[in-house]
Amino acid sequence: MDFFSKAYCRTYQTIFKWIMPMLPYREPKCIEKMEDIKNIVLDKGYSKVMLITDEGIRVQKLTLPLERDLKAEKIKLTVYDQVKPNPTVSLVEEVVALYQENGCECIIAFGGGSVMDTAKAVGARVANPKKSLLNMRGIMKIKNPPPTIIAIPTTAGTGSETTVTAVITDDQTHRKYTINDFKLIPELVLLDHTLTLKLPPNITATTGMDALTHAIEAFIGNSTTDDSRKNALEAARLILENIEKVYHDGSNERARANMLRASYMAGLAFTKSYVGYVHAIAHSLGGRYNTPHGLANAVILPYVLSEYGLSAIKKLKIMAVYCNVARPYDSEQNATNKFINKILDLNEEFGIPKTFDFIRDEDIELMAKHAAKEANPLYPVPKEFSAKELQKIYYKIKS
Ligand SMILES: NC(=O)c1ccc[n+]([C@@H]2O[C@H](COP(=O)([O-])OP(=O)(O)OC[C@H]3O[C@@H](n4cnc5c(N)ncnc54)[C@H](O)[C@@H]3O)[C@@H](O)[C@H]2O)c1
Ligand SMILES: [Fe+2]
Repeated sequence: MDFFSKAYCRTYQTIFKWIMPMLPYREPKCIEKMEDIKNIVLDKGYSKVMLITDEGIRVQKLTLPLERDLKAEKIKLTVYDQVKPNPTVSLVEEVVALYQENGCECIIAFGGGSVMDTAKAVGARVANPKKSLLNMRGIMKIKNPPPTIIAIPTTAGTGSETTVTAVITDDQTHRKYTINDFKLIPELVLLDHTLTLKLPPNITATTGMDALTHAIEAFIGNSTTDDSRKNALEAARLILENIEKVYHDGSNERARANMLRASYMAGLAFTKSYVGYVHAIAHSLGGRYNTPHGLANAVILPYVLSEYGLSAIKKLKIMAVYCNVARPYDSEQNATNKFINKILDLNEEFGIPKTFDFIRDEDIELMAKHAAKEANPLYPVPKEFSAKELQKIYYKIKS
């Protein structure tokens, strides 16, 4: 990246870092158990609730006890259970219409990141009906706060239950973009690991690698805080200690609880300290090829960490030592190599490929442009790459 573009990015990131303590970050309020939700809804005076979920979750009957609870209290429930991975603008608009037709007053998001992001986008649109999702892209573009959102994550995962972000794909352009606003942080969250016990091994692995990517990208960026560093380190350690356990034995409750806690902590870390080029590239693949988000991150992560070279090795050593992947006496470079090798070993164990041969040469220029636009100047990455430099990473990922 040329000198002036780099100076612009670094200045922008520094300003954001300075003003960060003044920004209205908050954590969602924790709900202890599913049975409490009906009372929360009643206490808030709502009688018409929208439940957003997906078919896989509904078929497993995970939402059934909640649906029964709400119906028993004569709360009118409108259910949308057709959320798809990498949710699109048209899907969000379908749900917005359903919400408005039924006069809903609040939203329960019951699912993975795709469901929670759909719920956030629906909330933003119903509160700001004259503003399109595209016009909410970027940071702090949402004027009126969404209605109450209760987030119930069923993957461990995106951490969307505690982040400022919703990631939506434009069906026309196949571009996946982020909407970031404090108003999108859900008001309430229920972290119930028992909902993740039936998550199949491949989704367990890829969503877990997404959470690990959040922890790593937040930690190695330049805009960390005491809190975000602590959360990122602890999340990474918990994930590395538990991800193989949950992959091989999904019914291991303790490991499932640790993973859910870790993905929440990684969400807390990156919502303050951002992600980086792994995510920017992953979003471009999600938009263009519908690549599942966690899978994309798992494959891209080792490439981007290697490309950062010397700029990230100091922090990667700290993380590697904290996670018992390296020893304090290892050099920074050796510790980083051990950390990257650990990620590659996990990917192999989980049957995650080393490359994505479906990437088409003719798509790379535009995807790299989109990734650069997402990351620069917002993400305080250890090393800045221009769109041209990012193209080289795409070629490596595809080879
Ligand atoms: N908002 C954020 O902060 C943020 C952060 C990272 C990723 N994301 C976005 O989140 C989306 C990915 O979310 P995800 O990785 O959680 O996956 P997902 O929500 O797309 O779900 C993946 C699959 O897992 C199934 N599933 C979910 N929970 C299950 C359960 N308990 N048991 C069995 N099957 C279950 C779903 O039915 C679906 O088929 C992407 O669009 C990504 O860009 C958002
Ligand atoms: Fe992610």
